Amino acid sequence: MTLAASPARRVVLAGASGTIGKAVAAALAAAGHETHALARADFSSPALLAQRVAAARAEVVISCIASRSGAPSDAWAVDHDSNRALLAAAEAAGARQFILLSAICVQKPRLAFQHAKLAFEAALVQSPITHTIIRPTAFFKSLSGQVARVRAGKPFLLFGDGELTSCKPISDADLARFILAAIDNPEAAGRILPVGGPGPAITPREQGELLFAAARRPARFRSVSPGLFAAAARVLGLGAGLSPWCAAKAEYARIAHYYATESMLVWDPASGRYRADLTPEFGSETLSDHYRRLMAKG
Ligand SMILES: NC(=O)c1ccc[n+]([C@@H]2O[C@H](COP(=O)([O-])OP(=O)(O)OC[C@H]3O[C@@H](n4cnc5c(N)ncnc54)[C@H](OP(=O)(O)O)[C@@H]3O)[C@@H](O)[C@H]2O)c1
Repeated sequence: MTLAASPARRVVLAGASGTIGKAVAAALAAAGHETHALARADFSSPALLAQRVAAARAEVVISCIASRSGAPSDAWAVDHDSNRALLAAAEAAGARQFILLSAICVQKPRLAFQHAKLAFEAALVQSPITHTIIRPTAFFKSLSGQVARVRAGKPFLLFGDGELTSCKPISDADLARFILAAIDNPEAAGRILPVGGPGPAITPREQGELLFAAARRPARFRSVSPGLFAAAARVLGLGAGLSPWCAAKAEYARIAHYYATESMLVWDPASGRYRADLTPEFGSETLSDHYRRLMAKG
């Protein structure tokens, strides 16, 4: 997508307290847009939401909301229902563009949150408002869960040989710039845009090597079988019909198995493979820079 600054717009931003929402709020302010951030309380009723979006006289609505737990009922309530209410409010307020932060993993949907996101994407595509759906690859925070382990001298945990998956990690600030570049951009109008960071695609083993290099320690790995998650999902799934606790835990095990075995790259149905070369790259911040910053913080 070509980068071009749009004129200042009245923008309603949902999810401004989240990881990417915060970065988008900062980027909107820096670019001089008039930003109206919605809080969780604004979603307590569709009428209140419509009132807030109308009062802002929104020209552009950006949604960065998402279920924080990923549990099926919460995913449908937030990723689908709350976004549907926001879309209805945007339509009623006469907004011209709705930009949705989605996820690249919806292209191979197996999890409840992915189905909830896809159902909303379909509703957005049907809406008279110009849509832009952004499907990023992995965020830096999702690849930083082992910083404390490595700092403590423990081995980096890998699934299988650590080469089962790969992704092009994107920083919060780079993704925020990409989202802003979609405002008023004809190249983003009516489009679904997968996006990754600057590349190249890296595997979990390479992430571990980058993390050890940032920590100035020799790399040490321990392999875990992703089959453990599949087995846990099967066992917990047996109780899912009787217990919401089992249902939620079974879904978390399925989510863990999914991320242990599926790449966050564009899926090519023709070849039946994930394709790094088809996954667009954007931005300049690398995971290695991020790891070095985290290690320097101590
Ligand atoms: N993590 C990754 O690697 C990755 C990769 C690709 C795509 N994505 C997608 O990127 C999106 C955003 O991720 P993120 O990490 O920025 O999310 P996040 O940090 O978890 O933030 C979620 C946002 O949604 C809001 N929210 C949650 N429940 C809500 C509700 N019931 N009503 C209204 N607002 C609610 C939160 O508000 P509160 O502060 O009030 O909770 C927060 O502002 C998600 O759709 C995710 O699937 C993630």
